[in-house]
Amino acid sequence: MQRKSARRDLVLELLEEHGGSAPGTASQIEAETGVPEADVHGVATFYSLLRSPGERTRVCQGLSCKVAGADAVVADLRAKGETVELVSCLGQCDCAPVGLDPSLELISWGETGRVTPDDPALPMNLGGADDASYAALSRAKAIGGEATIAEVKAAGLQGRGGAGFPAHFKWSAVRGQAEQTRYVVVNADEGEPGTFKDREVMLRRPHRMLEGMAIAAFATGAQTCFIYIRGEFVDCIRSVEQAIEAADEHLADLDIRLVSGHGAYICGEETALLEAIEGRRGMPRLKPPYPTDSGLWGKPTLMNNVETLACVPAIVQHGGAAFAALGRAEPGSKLYCVSGHVQKPGVYELPLGVTLDELVEAAGGYVGTPLAFSPGGASSGILPLSFRDTPLDFKSLAAVGSMLGSAGVVVLNDSVDLARVALWNLVFFEDESCGQCTPCRVGCRLQRQAVQRYIEGGDPAALSHAGDVAWEMEEGSICGLGQVASWPLTTAMKHFPEAFGERR
Ligand SMILES: Cc1cc2nc3c(=O)[nH]c(=O)nc-3n(C[C@H](O)[C@H](O)[C@H](O)COP(=O)(O)O)c2cc1C
Ligand code: SF4
Repeated sequence: MQRKSARRDLVLELLEEHGGSAPGTASQIEAETGVPEADVHGVATFYSLLRSPGERTRVCQGLSCKVAGADAVVADLRAKGETVELVSCLGQCDCAPVGLDPSLELISWGETGRVTPDDPALPMNLGGADDASYAALSRAKAIGGEATIAEVKAAGLQGRGGAGFPAHFKWSAVRGQAEQTRYVVVNADEGEPGTFKDREVMLRRPHRMLEGMAIAAFATGAQTCFIYIRGEFVDCIRSVEQAIEAADEHLADLDIRLVSGHGAYICGEETALLEAIEGRRGMPRLKPPYPTDSGLWGKPTLMNNVETLACVPAIVQHGGAAFAALGRAEPGSKLYCVSGHVQKPGVYELPLGVTLDELVEAAGGYVGTPLAFSPGGASSGILPLSFRDTPLDFKSLAAVGSMLGSAGVVVLNDSVDLARVALWNLVFFEDESCGQCTPCRVGCRLQRQAVQRYIEGGDPAALSHAGDVAWEMEEGSICGLGQVASWPLTTAMKHFPEAFGERR
């Protein structure tokens, strides 16, 4: 039984300190925290960076790395006798194929290298240079919380984490709570395959994010801010730590806690992230209640994505209307990630609602003959090139059965086998499902097995139940992962029936 005084919030930190799920660790942590050994073991085995202690090279299995030759890299490393772990997308698609050394430092075997916002040729500035004056925070304090939220509303700022939910609703909801203990959480868990924009913000414009966070805390009346950064982003963690130190005089009235993730895509889902901060397995909670009413330790919590918050200083300084005018059918500028078969993979800041061709033009053009694209990470499925004129915004992509999501655009040319693309994405969802809903846990496995059987045997009958399984998953899963995990398969089958025909 857990002791009344148990320090559950220390469990993940101690697991990291003591070497993950190594023998003896769980009982030692029970002694130190009062959290039962079995419970500690359950937490340790949930997170990939804690699960299997020991030195290894982690090689990314994300779509962009796969098309750039990750399999050959793995074969080569294994032939040299190295221990290799195959891991989910590492958010480094612009220098694919990539891996991490045992200290989680990046290794790139790619030829393209990073195109960064420091490149003078790029039409992007992430809301301006990384101004460390915190003048926008001063302005927010001068005009007050209500007026600050009114600017965010006038900007039409939609959450950049995936759902596109209007930011001002959540800000007002937390501000209006009777409970005085409130939290702001920055979601920097960026794990959607094909997505690496928050990484760039943290590396090149960390003060923009921190200032947006401080403005959010001021406007909602929060005293404590958590910044949850995925553990594989060691350079981002360093960059944000340095920026917090450098901005000490502006952030002194806030209690800022930087939390490093431990390797679990599902912790990007807002309630799973809250569970992780509280020291548990990252399993999404049932909603309602929403975090704005009952979030961290049951208190009102505002959670926003890194990019959402990084937009805020410019909104406060130049007015919401100026930000809104940067977009097309939807307001604002947008950080688009583009990788796969394009000349210069990278992050490009463009008006919200550009088309695929405009984005790819910014990225130097297509490589080969383009066939398909995934507009918003693995979760958005696959679209054929006939959708190249569809605005890459929240409403237009939803209308064609896809989504903008995290704007992780992956371009594929006609050299790829779309059945294999579906398989790689299904492997990702199967690995990353938290397992608490049966339709998601079992459905992910069934879909992956079906495609595997089809690829191995060439008989389309292997896929005859894919539509029914997808329906069960969409209807019966409690979070977004299970609801969209079938899309890479079902959208590919819908738009490219010829890729799923008889192969014998
Ligand atoms: C499976 C899953 C993974 C997610 N991963 C992320 C993520 O890595 N980063 C993020 O900001 N939001 C992610 N989200 C969305 C969050 O749940 C939440 O909507 C977001 O952090 C809210 O911030 P925003 O309103 O600024 O977008 C994910 C959602 C789901 C269902
Ligand atoms: S849908 Fe999947 S990932 Fe989401 S809570 Fe259910 S089992 Fe977990």
